[in-house]
Amino acid sequence: MLTIAISKGRIYDEAMPLLAGAGIRPTVDPDKSRKLILPTSRNDVRLLVIRAADVPTYVEYGAADLGIAGKDVLVEHGAGGLYEPLDLGIAKCRLMTAARVDHRQENQRLRVATKYVKTAQRYFADKGVQVEVIKLYGSMELAPLVGLADCIVDLVDTGNTLRANGMEPGELIMDVSSRLVVNKAAMKMKPQAVAEFIRQLRDTVLSRAALA
Ligand code: ATP
Ligand code: PRP
Repeated sequence: MLTIAISKGRIYDEAMPLLAGAGIRPTVDPDKSRKLILPTSRNDVRLLVIRAADVPTYVEYGAADLGIAGKDVLVEHGAGGLYEPLDLGIAKCRLMTAARVDHRQENQRLRVATKYVKTAQRYFADKGVQVEVIKLYGSMELAPLVGLADCIVDLVDTGNTLRANGMEPGELIMDVSSRLVVNKAAMKMKPQAVAEFIRQLRDTVLSRAALA
């Protein structure tokens, strides 16, 4: 049995056509069911539907053999305990700093609101800028509007969320796309099944890229 951890929403929607290329189609719709373990058209494969930020944890501890997660989440988690064999080229965006269009620094020490605490700390430390990082769990764009922070570190795709809130992008921290990650023990315990799955997924990713 291969167990694959994935989050609902954007990554699930974009990953399904890729998994279909490996003959994997969930037989239960996660938007219509409360089930967290989804059986698939392949009786040797099941999906765990979990929060995006939890995917590396499930894979690292071997509760899932494989997972699909954004590079943003993997860097923040510190994905040293995982293999990352494949860039799936889905859920593409950028991790950036952003501030109000009319930004004036109010606090002596730059206040940064983000859910990417470790990544932000490392980014500003590398630049030699002293910051106070404020942990949030979502809607980061609100923080500078109400004086909670001077700037944010968050994902930007179209830029619509920033624009709608009178903000503008600043510096690029990293380009983001979703990656396949693999538990290191699963690579040794189930080498054939894991290698075959990676091969099928890689073929699908490459053929889609060739068509694009
Ligand atoms: P949760 O819903 O559990 O709080 P989340 O809001 O991070 O998690 P999603 O919005 O589905 O969940 O994001 C999952 C991943 O998709 C992110 O980690 C990132 O890699 C990517 N992503 C997020 N926002 C965008 C976007 N606007 N455009 C493209 N990719 C994105
Ligand atoms: C993500 C991200 C930004 C937005 C950026 O939020 O946190 O707010 O997308 O995309 P844009 O540049 O195209 O506007 P998401 O839509 O996933 O909502 P969330 O806050 O629930 O994660």
